[in-house]
Amino acid sequence: MATREGASATKAVAPACVPVHIGVIMDGNGRWATARNLPRFEGHRRGVEALRRCVRAAREMGIRYLTIYSFSSENWSRPAQEVSELMGLLKRFVRHDLAELHGHNVRVRIIGERTSLPKEIVLLLDEAENLTRDNTGLTLNVAFNYGSRQEIASAAAKLAAEVAAGRLKPEDVTIERISAHLDTAGIPDPELIVRTSGEQRLSNFLLWQAAYSEFVFLPIHWPDFDQAALQGAIDEFARRERRFGGVTAQVGSARS
Ligand code: FPP
Repeated sequence: MATREGASATKAVAPACVPVHIGVIMDGNGRWATARNLPRFEGHRRGVEALRRCVRAAREMGIRYLTIYSFSSENWSRPAQEVSELMGLLKRFVRHDLAELHGHNVRVRIIGERTSLPKEIVLLLDEAENLTRDNTGLTLNVAFNYGSRQEIASAAAKLAAEVAAGRLKPEDVTIERISAHLDTAGIPDPELIVRTSGEQRLSNFLLWQAAYSEFVFLPIHWPDFDQAALQGAIDEFARRERRFGGVTAQVGSARS
């Protein structure tokens, strides 16, 4: 296993223009493969390699949270073989990369609906979270069987149950309480969301959390993603003016 970096050994320090939290929609695996007369699976397989490059780059840049959209609640509608291949890639990713992620002080968190997944996958996801729960470097949030509308509906249902039981009043259902009942509880909202493949939409990814995110849409397909692409997206982010509904002079005094 790789040598374990302690928090004090982490050299990378995030400068002010580097986002604390980046969300990534890894899109275009299928088109990348089709353009090369390869099976779609090859695009996903190369997508995992791009994911490794992305995680390494994020660690080295000192990014604190990276949330990757690896399987959406809607991806079940793909052909059974492709679903099974994506499950297989997740299993291989956890089995092959977990020790190295742990060695680099990465904390793995899973967001998404877990109870309906095959037992074998649930056990692997639990293992990844349990092994790395005390790590203090990059937090890698893997959105798997994730849908943001479902996440918000589930938070609303939990709060409604609290109200029905008389433990909360309707006016206690605040933005903060809703945030605290999402899968991302405790994680700051992403300042930047990157999507590859040229598509410009959120596709049910972090809808609540992205209220003030900047979006960068890259024209490359996910298997071609690398450190330079991540740096390019961050450079674009650094050029944006973020006002959070206020005016320019307020920025910095309101929220970061
Ligand atoms: C989008 O490409 C990508 C996905 C639906 C899955 C992303 C998965 C990986 C990068 C590999 C698996 C990684 C883990 C950790 C499971 P697409 O198939 O929608 O591409 P297309 O729009 O060109 O068809």
